Amino acid sequence: MLFTFKPGRATGQVPFVCAVLAGMFLLVTIACKKDDRPGVKPGNGGPTPIQWKKPAHFPDPVYDISRNPLTREGVELGRFLFYDGILSRTNQIGCGTCHQQEAAFTHHGHELSHGVDDLLGTRNSPSIQNLAWNPSFFWDGGVHDLDLVPFNPIENPVEMDETVKNVIAKLQNTPLSAAKMPVNYPLMFERAFGDEQITSERMMKALSQFMLSLVSAGSRYDYFRQGDRSALSVKEQRGMAVFRAKCGSCHAGELFTDYSFRNNGLVPSGAGDEGRFGITANPADRYKFKVPSLRNVGLTAPYMHDGRYHSLQEVLDHYTDSIHPSATLDIQLIGPGEKRGISLTSAEKQSIISFLRSLSDEQFIREKQFSDPGVGTNF
Ligand code: HEC
Ligand code: HEC
Repeated sequence: MLFTFKPGRATGQVPFVCAVLAGMFLLVTIACKKDDRPGVKPGNGGPTPIQWKKPAHFPDPVYDISRNPLTREGVELGRFLFYDGILSRTNQIGCGTCHQQEAAFTHHGHELSHGVDDLLGTRNSPSIQNLAWNPSFFWDGGVHDLDLVPFNPIENPVEMDETVKNVIAKLQNTPLSAAKMPVNYPLMFERAFGDEQITSERMMKALSQFMLSLVSAGSRYDYFRQGDRSALSVKEQRGMAVFRAKCGSCHAGELFTDYSFRNNGLVPSGAGDEGRFGITANPADRYKFKVPSLRNVGLTAPYMHDGRYHSLQEVLDHYTDSIHPSATLDIQLIGPGEKRGISLTSAEKQSIISFLRSLSDEQFIREKQFSDPGVGTNF
């Protein structure tokens, strides 16, 4: 008789083998209880508070830190969750897949972000930085509380396509279910919150703690701003002056945005994205998008809500030559005599681009504490 192998067919031996394997895992886990794996360092009686510091030249934050005080263990748990594919249906897409540190936490080289099964979204991934100052999130400002943001990517069918409920169940099952370097989430939750209970509220709070720790205020511009006159070249300083005069009304202040929603004259995208209108249903909001911060903009190409421009030169050319007329076009982009756009010489454009590049924060993109801990629970 020919022996045929039937894949997927359960034999009596499988449960036995599984039980033995599970038992071995349990032993390993018990043996590792007092271990020195990253993220599971023993605490001595409760989480260690971290002082969250506002950079001196920044305005007061919007996020009320007192309702989610940062701790070393909470931020570390948030970092593990941020990079762990376990938050997605396929266990492969982490927040860090689309928000990559070397690109100031954007999706480098992607106009639109790819999520599970390589499905394509409709918007460009914005930078995760200085979120404590954001009064609203997403290009259309659809969410107002940072602690509620992760529900969207986790449950979005083209991003992580998972349910928060199932993520909690998977986290509760670690490290037994983890095939790669096991991360003991129950233990990490205990270290961060006092007991092993894993709830969606705690998960969101930990993710917020990590994201709140992503403060970028160490660019050459910041050094200049704090008194080091040699931090910017003459050309960059000239660019700063032109920028403030021509762009600073929307990209205002130290965060380089006033967080308002505006139509900056883009031809509507192929995806039919109407921006803020999708949230308010107010026709006056049609094609308005949140003014993005320009910190680290030299690292975050491509640009705009759909990533249509690949260089800062293209962005500048848009503002001078390609402003698309429409009922909601921002009044500031309509010049005297109905001439549309911002007038800039090519030398002024070059100096603005030089200035924008001085907003890159090399420490921010290299900081080890923000990086992928390199342990995933990919199955
Ligand atoms: C598949 C790619 C993808 C994944 C995975 C992803 N994001 Fe995003 N993220 C985006 C895109 C695209 C946007 C913009 C969406 C919009 O405006 O509608 C965004 C927006 C955000 C924002 C708002 C930023 C702002 O300035 O308004 C935050 C915060 C954020 N994501 C955090 C997370 C967290 C936390 C996770 C993991 C739980 C995550 N993201 C997973 C692509 C992704
Ligand atoms: C009327 C307000 C307004 C003015 C003035 C303005 N911008 Fe913008 N800017 C916006 C808005 C709104 C967006 C996002 C538009 C979108 O994606 O739909 C944007 C996007 C950008 C982006 C893309 C950033 C990213 O992360 O994708 C850059 C770069 C930029 N602007 C630079 C400038 C420069 C340089 C000037 C001056 C020459 C300028 N802006 C003037 C409102 C403005």
